[in-house]
Amino acid sequence: MSESKGFSSSFGAIAAAVGSAVGLGNIWRFPYICGQYGGGAFLLVYLCFVFFIGMALMITEFVMGRRTGRTPIFAYESLVQSPKQRLWRYAGLLGLVTSFLILALYLVISGWTTNYFAESLVGAHIGLDSVAISDHFDFFSTSALRPIVFIAVFLLITGAVILGGVQKGIERVSKILMPVLVVLLVVLCVRSATLPGASAGFAYLFKPDFTQLTGQGVLAALGQALFSLSVGMGVMIVYGSYLPKDDNLLKTSIWITVCDTLIAILAGIAIFPAVFASGQDPAGGPGLVFMTLPVVFNSMNPADGLPIGTIFESIFFLLLVIAALTSAISLLEAQVAWGEEYKKGKSQRTRNTIVICLLMLALSAILSLSNGVCGNFTIGGKSLFAFVDQLNSIYLPPLCSLCAVIFLGWVVDKEAIRDELSNHGTIAIPWFKGFLFLVRFVAPLALIIVLVTGIVNSL
Ligand code: TRP
Repeated sequence: MSESKGFSSSFGAIAAAVGSAVGLGNIWRFPYICGQYGGGAFLLVYLCFVFFIGMALMITEFVMGRRTGRTPIFAYESLVQSPKQRLWRYAGLLGLVTSFLILALYLVISGWTTNYFAESLVGAHIGLDSVAISDHFDFFSTSALRPIVFIAVFLLITGAVILGGVQKGIERVSKILMPVLVVLLVVLCVRSATLPGASAGFAYLFKPDFTQLTGQGVLAALGQALFSLSVGMGVMIVYGSYLPKDDNLLKTSIWITVCDTLIAILAGIAIFPAVFASGQDPAGGPGLVFMTLPVVFNSMNPADGLPIGTIFESIFFLLLVIAALTSAISLLEAQVAWGEEYKKGKSQRTRNTIVICLLMLALSAILSLSNGVCGNFTIGGKSLFAFVDQLNSIYLPPLCSLCAVIFLGWVVDKEAIRDELSNHGTIAIPWFKGFLFLVRFVAPLALIIVLVTGIVNSL
């Protein structure tokens, strides 16, 4: 059954999973935290986390998904060995709730991205200086209607892909868009890296400065590794259930992790050399993309003639829309697939998709309004947007990841894991013991540290 409902080929499966992993996290978030926490030093720590803990989690989710062919709540339920352990299904539920909340936030930023893409197409930022561009962003992101309209446009496209189904929607779109994304990114990298003064950007991004790498930076590296690989909320359990039965799970995970990491590094190369070359502040933080970059692109426009900088600006925001789209697709699919399994029998995909999209639109509209007109409503002194952002970045993903590794490492039958990873004994897995060690000890310990420090710091 999972053969026909899943991805049709290994390439399609990898394209879809890379699509999920490569998102705003790579292009919007990675470059600024990498620069902020000491460039090359942060990169080294990040690489260790991605390839050991992040990838172990990805394999964990793939095993759970492909073994059971089911969505998170049911996957947990099917893998327990005694009725008492059925309580683990709440870990699946927690994942579902987390992916729902992440999607709501993701849609707000994706809406901004779509708006900026549209604006860059009509040259709306041409001639604005950095103060005017910052004002423009503040005005736009706090206004009531416009952000919601763009959230709706973006959601409509995402929903349409989901309606197309796993093979004809998700897989087909990912196979086209991921190569396009790479081409656009390489174009931007070449432009940025060949600007006069670009070398300062390379130094900022790659030169290891261990004095800047604080404990906080190490925690940020692990958090970013989980977020970037899309692990920790069962989305990869759903994609795992669509993976071809004869796929080598280790190889697939390595492909996804390498592509995700390379694209994050390329995004840094597309951004920082250009920022330095135009004399802008690299420490723009989250506002880097929406407030600093339009100024950078403006500075590439000649006084008269073709506004070449603005053309690069359109390419950049198109790239960001594509990255956000394939990630949002995976988050929405996790919700829709759950709905389908919950109400099994006749397929309810169309109805589920519409209902979930409407719910998502309502929630992200509320989050968007909390940045502006409804900003007076606060939780613990934070706007609703900041509150959900904190839940999503500090508490829920590490908690869900912790549940997954403890479950696989300590509850699931070891022979079942070995059988799934070795494709029923047809491929050698000399790394199995090392993997179990990571899942049973290293990953839980690291996740507990992240979780506890995150909680303590936020009190
Ligand atoms: N990985 C995506 C990014 O880097 C975000 C994302 C998509 C995600 N799906 C996810 C994060 C599932 C966690 C879980 O932008």
